[in-house]
Amino acid sequence: MVTVSRTDYHSPDGLERAVIDLVRVGTRGHGAGVRQLASRLMRSVPMGVQDTESFRDAVHQAIASGSDITGLRCTSGTVPTEGDNAQPLADVDLLPDGDGLALDETVMSQLEEIIAERERADELRRAGAGLTRTLLLSGPPGVGKTMTAGWLAQALGLPLVLLDLSSVVSSYLGTSGRNIKSVFDYAKSGPCVLLLDEFDAIAKRRDDDTDIGELKRIVNVILVELDHWPDTNLLVAATNHPQLLDAAVGRRFDRSLTLPLPGLEQRHAIFRHLASGIDGVDTQVLDLVAELSSGMSSSDLTRLWSLARRRSILKRVAVTDVLVSELARHVEDSGSGRDRLFLTLHSALGMSNRQIASLTGVSHPTVATGIKRAGGTKHGGRTEQ
Ligand SMILES: Nc1ncnc2c1ncn2[C@@H]1O[C@H](COP(=O)(O)OP(=O)(O)OP(=O)(O)O)[C@@H](O)[C@H]1O
Ligand SMILES: [Mg+2]
Repeated sequence: MVTVSRTDYHSPDGLERAVIDLVRVGTRGHGAGVRQLASRLMRSVPMGVQDTESFRDAVHQAIASGSDITGLRCTSGTVPTEGDNAQPLADVDLLPDGDGLALDETVMSQLEEIIAERERADELRRAGAGLTRTLLLSGPPGVGKTMTAGWLAQALGLPLVLLDLSSVVSSYLGTSGRNIKSVFDYAKSGPCVLLLDEFDAIAKRRDDDTDIGELKRIVNVILVELDHWPDTNLLVAATNHPQLLDAAVGRRFDRSLTLPLPGLEQRHAIFRHLASGIDGVDTQVLDLVAELSSGMSSSDLTRLWSLARRRSILKRVAVTDVLVSELARHVEDSGSGRDRLFLTLHSALGMSNRQIASLTGVSHPTVATGIKRAGGTKHGGRTEQ
């Protein structure tokens, strides 16, 4: 089972929830948050809106007319900065967005457990069982580690404080221990989810002697924080290289989750989410696209979708056609994978050999041979000679 966030506005009660969210963000004077919400509304237009296109236009115009007013960044004054530079050390997202997160059932159920623990925090505290305070997320690039922190913050209704350790460690090495401590103190000043992104940055330079002292200081600061992290807040660390971390650091987390590359179900869910609210998308082709994109990361899928969408608008063709022809290039030049692709396009989608040929950039006799090799004649598809 795949769970996609329930905060999608394209649902029967979407309009009510959008208004409430808008009031919530607006009363905090958070201009960037209002704009973020507006783009979310344009992406997933609430059901019941009569004319989707004019609604999108109107929201777009409303954003454009307000864009010359500087957003009131209500918390910026208190976010710690690096010395005279006045650059905030952490980003604060008051309206974190994890919409459309698709993860496999095991990982998703653990995330839901973390939410459930917080809903019944008093009961757990009274029983002395405690809550998950710290979570380590590992996995290859682009599988949704950063997004998961946003999803958790959104589900918990908390702001997300994001500290990119790689930038803090590289740009301010001499003072990074102190800087990191000040971000921890800031994050503990109120309920929030603190994300320590690119967490392995604290381990990466170990072979570089000049940095050893400072990195040790940073690791010590982090170990102390992990041990004393308050259970009102959630600390999430994300890394692509868990093997680089000291075992002592890894063990300090209450939970550790590995996010895998998306399986077929997740790829289906991601494409369906991306396609929701867009008219005329053929779901059968979309499912084929999910099958063809095996081995790609979720972030690759999202980028591929955006590219296909832009190209489909420019060339006035279906977004799924662009997706299939992009993916067909990745299917081996010859062989059973490509033959299966031809067969599916032919028998499931009823495309002619010529159409398949022009979509995938091969000659139509090659398509015919491929379909035969894949056993197509038995499937009763329309065979064009
Ligand atoms: N599991 C997922 N479900 C849906 N969309 C996803 C998922 N993972 C990634 N994406 C899409 O890819 C984008 C980038 O993902 P994200 O930055 O969270 O990955 P990451 O694991 O943190 O990558 P990195 O290791 O490069 O930091 C997301 O904003 C989202 O659009
Ligand atoms: Mg990330």
